Amino acid sequence: MRVDLPPPSPDELAHSERVAALIRGEIYAAGGALDFARYMELALYAPGLGYYSAGAAKFGTAGDFVTAPELGFVFARCLARAIAPTLRETRGDVLELGPGSGALAAELLVELERLDALPVRYLLLERSADLRERQRTTLTQRCAHLFDRCVWLDMPPAESWRGALIANEVVDALPVRAFVLRDGEVFARAVGVDGNGRFVWREIPADAALQADTAHFVPDESALPHPFMSEYCPTLVPWLAEVTRNLEHGAAWFIDYGYSRPEYYAPQHANGTLRCHFRHRAHDDPLILPGLQDITAHVDFDALVEAGSAAGFEASVERQSQFLIRHGLDEVFTDTYASAAGEAARYALAQEVKRLTLPGQMGDAFRVAMIRR
Ligand SMILES: C[S@@+](CC[C@H](N)C(=O)[O-])C[C@H]1O[C@@H](n2cnc3c(N)ncnc32)[C@H](O)[C@@H]1O
Repeated sequence: MRVDLPPPSPDELAHSERVAALIRGEIYAAGGALDFARYMELALYAPGLGYYSAGAAKFGTAGDFVTAPELGFVFARCLARAIAPTLRETRGDVLELGPGSGALAAELLVELERLDALPVRYLLLERSADLRERQRTTLTQRCAHLFDRCVWLDMPPAESWRGALIANEVVDALPVRAFVLRDGEVFARAVGVDGNGRFVWREIPADAALQADTAHFVPDESALPHPFMSEYCPTLVPWLAEVTRNLEHGAAWFIDYGYSRPEYYAPQHANGTLRCHFRHRAHDDPLILPGLQDITAHVDFDALVEAGSAAGFEASVERQSQFLIRHGLDEVFTDTYASAAGEAARYALAQEVKRLTLPGQMGDAFRVAMIRR
């Protein structure tokens, strides 16, 4: 996939060079090849430097990508209807992982108030100081009277809690291992440095963990073309166990783009699912612009269900379009349409609903995994 990317500014390039220098240091220390999962971790989350740890715009029209809560109110209003019964039943809290700009938190709170299902506390798990500031601003501007319920956390709650956990486009941002199946053998796709200091892919023989994991995720490779490149998230099981550890009673919703396992490890995805976003251009080269672009991989929803079961939850998965329809899309659309101020607002609403639900757009590509205990 080749796309022309807009040129970064001199300041951005200088920042990216600082990130690259850090990563090169680790590559040299590792003997010339660094596992891709570690590269992704550093490019996205190196303290003060990584894409999500430093201060770029990221979300919305001024940033690099648009997520469902940034499109308008429909997604949040339907999600509010989905989680309201759990909140009424548990009289508990909402815990949102990776709340981004705070747009989802603000609209959820407003809608939950309307539905008479306000959480006792709205917990925001956010490590970036810069994003916390942005979330505070959004929440004070959009629902100042509910701001007292908002509590920021560095870690999942240390005490047991009840309620609803939500994570929109968080799982796709967890670091993945990249691998290639070639002539019956498995290789790790690691990152090295060429003579000009640029990052390049290096294939290295699979370690025991990669051998075992690929045998689990791709038990039958006979129908796949070779070479076959793909990814998986090695930390999904411990990560899910950790974020839900103290959720004593309630449910969790993970909304993301991805596939079932048979679709994921299938011939049509022989080049893998890595996607990068820089100023609304999507491409598949994570080795450029470290620290300036988002790096993601599609979610294996079967792996998410397995991780949920391992943590003691019952799990189910459905397409986002179906989820929104089941949770009041019709009613939300009618109400929002009736209160929309003018033709432009009504047009934007229609576009939003199409984008969220149509098969070629988010409707099919996005799924919702719900786990409960
Ligand atoms: C693509 S953004 C989505 C932001 C927001 N949820 C939205 O829908 O606009 C991914 C977010 O996941 C967060 N994230 C990544 N790893 C995380 C983790 N281990 N725990 C919590 N949040 C995480 C990132 O910091 C980032 O804010």
